[in-house]
Amino acid sequence: MSSKGVIHVIDDEPVIHDVLNQLLTSEGYEVESSSSGEEGLEKFSPQSTDVVLLDLLMPGMDGIEVLRRLRKIDPAAAVIIITAYGSVESAIDAMKIGALDYIQKPFKHDDLLLTIERAVERRRLQAENLRLKDELKQKFSFANIIGKSQAMKAVFELIRAAAPTRSTILLQGESGTGKELAARAIHMSSPRADAPFVTVNSGSLPPDLLESHLFGHVKGAFTGAVALKKGLFEAADRGTIFFDEVSSIGLETQAKLLRVMQEREFMRLGGTETIRVDVRIIAATNTDIEEMIAQKTFRKDLFYRLNVIKIELPPLRQRKDDIPLLVKHFIEIYGRENRKEVEGVSEDVYEILDAYDWPGNVRELENLVERGVVFSRSKIITRDSLPPFLLTKATAPGGWVLSPEESLDLREQTQAFQRQIILTALKKTKGVQKQAAKLLGVKPTTLNEMIKRLQVDTEDVSA
Ligand SMILES: Nc1ncnc2c1ncn2[C@@H]1O[C@H](COP(=O)(O)OP(=O)(O)OP(=O)(O)O)[C@@H](O)[C@H]1O
Ligand SMILES: [Mg+2]
Repeated sequence: MSSKGVIHVIDDEPVIHDVLNQLLTSEGYEVESSSSGEEGLEKFSPQSTDVVLLDLLMPGMDGIEVLRRLRKIDPAAAVIIITAYGSVESAIDAMKIGALDYIQKPFKHDDLLLTIERAVERRRLQAENLRLKDELKQKFSFANIIGKSQAMKAVFELIRAAAPTRSTILLQGESGTGKELAARAIHMSSPRADAPFVTVNSGSLPPDLLESHLFGHVKGAFTGAVALKKGLFEAADRGTIFFDEVSSIGLETQAKLLRVMQEREFMRLGGTETIRVDVRIIAATNTDIEEMIAQKTFRKDLFYRLNVIKIELPPLRQRKDDIPLLVKHFIEIYGRENRKEVEGVSEDVYEILDAYDWPGNVRELENLVERGVVFSRSKIITRDSLPPFLLTKATAPGGWVLSPEESLDLREQTQAFQRQIILTALKKTKGVQKQAAKLLGVKPTTLNEMIKRLQVDTEDVSA
């Protein structure tokens, strides 16, 4: 049986070693013994020790100093102080510099065992957390941004150079090109990786709500502010704050954001205290901000602040040589998720994917592969698992081609065509049906009715 954990006892009294050795071994722990602080430090190894039991009063280096040095070697070291009866004060000092707990001599065996058990459990949880964090790091690392095209290689190079710095980054690209993926990868490969990555969905909130979200508010700042609430800037302290769709922030909030970027400090709504935070800002947009500046809906000065390093994520149609790699990547992910053994797609599927325009970019391809994996009845995804509009090679209005081998059912083809045109319009207007209806030249109610009747999948258009 493997041991319940390794306990390193550092104490100068042989009796204590005897007692603890017996007790802990019989409980299934492995014990390591040191009779002085110096020896303890020399033997200590963060990898193999779970908990240190440390005597405070020893000749030579005293326990407090040992504790300090242990914490230097391993800031997460779990140290329990053993202290003589009546010297609680020094134990409390030790807790202040990072000891986990203390027990007084003479101790009850049960108390000691319970304290140790708790410390080992905490250590185990910490290790588990680290493992999960590593997994996350892996998940959002560069390795998961797929691409070998020249365009993507240039993106990788920029990300690699920019990531370790504190510089503000503006990610520009159409919907579904991987802006959020890139933002997370930048955070995860920066020195801030262990601090939070906080996303601000700028577009989904009315301005005053956005401000209280960003900066927090004090109790009574407005009706409903029943308690102090910290904002996202504070939550992101030491980490990264990601402004998704930054162009949708209103002019008033833009001014406040600019001030925070210039001064690196702000006040909570209704507050008087100045709060300083250390955050790195990454912003993303799929609209042409320069155009907005011309129309005076985006502040030029804020744009310059955000645009320190600009990374453009190229649309998928400009890097179609990445399609096979992406397909393979998503087949792996969704094969695993759905417990299906899918090996690839047939050659003619690649031809179809290659001919398509990908208005929804990588996200659209990802959804398509997921659907293919789910629907496929063999190890190879064939054209039967592709959505009908793709088979008719509709790219955009005007690009409609019907190949002779395809179904000539007029109703089916017409509906596929309508579906595609509606989707294109919705994507153009980011899902705003009223505007899309205008583009299509129909009444909004008509459009709404068509979306329902044709079962247009609108899930992604506004994302
Ligand atoms: N180069 C890539 N390699 C692997 N997966 C990618 C790549 N680019 C995008 N994806 C995947 O495509 C999906 C959409 O990406 P993401 O959310 O980052 O796009 P976005 O640019 O933020 O889109 P939007 O503007 O609509 O918010 C995600 O599931 C992401 O993992
Ligand atoms: Mg996004």
